[in-house]
Amino acid sequence: MVSRIRTVAFQGIEVLDIDVQVQILGGVPQFNLVGLPDKAVGESRERVRSALYALGLALPPKRITVNLAPADVLKEGSHFDLPIALALLTAMEVLPGEELSRFVALGELALDGALTQVAGVLPAAVNASAHGYGLICPASSGGEAAWAANVEILSAPTLLALINHFKGTQVLTPPEPKLAGGGSAAMPDLADVKGQETAKRALEITAAGGHNLLMLGPPGSGKSMLAARLPGILPPLSATEALEVSMIHSVSGLLTDGGLLRQRPFRDPHHSASLPALVGGGMRARPGEISLAHKGVLFLDELPEFARSTLEALRQPLESGRAVVARANAHVTYPADIQLVAAMNPCKCGYLSDLAMGCGRAPKCGQDYQARISGPLFDRIDIHVEVPAVQAADLSLPPAREDSATVRSRVAAARQAQAERYAGLKIEGERPVVVNARAEGALLDKVATPDAAGQALLSEAASRMQLTARGYHRVLKVARTLADLDGDAGVRRLHVAEALSYRRLAPGR
Ligand SMILES: Nc1ncnc2c1ncn2[C@@H]1O[C@H](COP(=O)(O)OP(=O)(O)OP(=O)(O)O)[C@@H](O)[C@H]1O
Ligand SMILES: [Mg+2]
Repeated sequence: MVSRIRTVAFQGIEVLDIDVQVQILGGVPQFNLVGLPDKAVGESRERVRSALYALGLALPPKRITVNLAPADVLKEGSHFDLPIALALLTAMEVLPGEELSRFVALGELALDGALTQVAGVLPAAVNASAHGYGLICPASSGGEAAWAANVEILSAPTLLALINHFKGTQVLTPPEPKLAGGGSAAMPDLADVKGQETAKRALEITAAGGHNLLMLGPPGSGKSMLAARLPGILPPLSATEALEVSMIHSVSGLLTDGGLLRQRPFRDPHHSASLPALVGGGMRARPGEISLAHKGVLFLDELPEFARSTLEALRQPLESGRAVVARANAHVTYPADIQLVAAMNPCKCGYLSDLAMGCGRAPKCGQDYQARISGPLFDRIDIHVEVPAVQAADLSLPPAREDSATVRSRVAAARQAQAERYAGLKIEGERPVVVNARAEGALLDKVATPDAAGQALLSEAASRMQLTARGYHRVLKVARTLADLDGDAGVRRLHVAEALSYRRLAPGR
């Protein structure tokens, strides 16, 4: 007789159904695990053996075969321990197979039989709910699993608790849905930044319309400081976004306290990050920083210090909103709908525009340094802003009047206006647009065509500044956001003028 337990494997954030089959036959005592397990899964034999021993159960001295089907899908991760143990226990007739067949199980076992947290519980729970199954997971992952609708969740601290539940001696209580900690109160405030009014305005526009931003300025002018204050003015994730973002973090094992994220992610990888770390993939395919920043901000500080090939790899995801990673046997797609925020110095020493401190190699040194960023990447950035050095006089001023809460409320109002407008213009079958930065083609023409004076200004500037077609459209998107911040129904000349002022030419032009 073969006993079976359902579990899952992950391909990107997609969930694949896996069947764990256990057969116990007479013969030389053996414990074999087949079905393309990776190293961590292969080692699960030892953990399962020890966990059962801790319960006072020895493996039967027979030929035990565990098969993970389908056999051609690579099984990665440590979450196969629990389904293997459960399938063994049903084969040994300790647990009722009939009842367990209603569940999908995942979890890692410690040697003493405790269940430890694993990656991917949230997508597994959502998948179980879609197929009408229940879910068995470790207690520490229960808060995450409970967010899936209409699914019976058994989250147990130990294997013994699970056995007792099925025997009816100690019934498990269903877990409560949990939220990840950290409110906006803990975030740094914009009021700490002295002066830099242009940069603050650019930050507000960036937040309001979901645009990409580049800050350029000498060392110590507050670029990193400003970027760190962006999460504090962004609106929280909507319910569907929160689920989507949390799924990606769950697959990466980053929902450490087992709660749903509600704040927009802000990822700031170091410039030594490799291409797989940024875009995804690698030995064990994992979402990259760009996907972990989905629906939030990817902040690249010291932009020219990133490897050129790494930056170029961002070009395609920036346009399509997803990262496609090719693996040996499959293509894995991760969502990557992000806002790119970058900061850089104008040259290697950083004081290009400062005559007193500038080096003797200016302006060549600045051109060389800025040319590390390719034209196409520059072109994808809607807002370029200079962050000049702060004057000592500014630093001694009292804190700025406007704090993050004030700016956040203006951003929220502008986002609300966008959401309402795009909800009315929704086109069947297309990716829903919620911010101006994502409006394309006919939709953009419809919502962002400026008045006659604005159109004249834009046409003239486009030829004088040699704007690319993309650059032209990006100016329109920023102008639309400026109109939304003003509460205007139409885009006017002054919005176009301000949007154009944020468009900087690529270096070398
Ligand atoms: N506008 C400002 N108002 C108040 N403090 C500031 C301002 N600009 C810089 N500072 C102070 O200087 C420190 C360094 O600023 P920050 O790290 O943001 O500089 P940066 O522009 O990122 O420099 P670098 O190009 O060297 O990375 C801040 O932690 C803060 O204490
Ligand atoms: Mg910095």
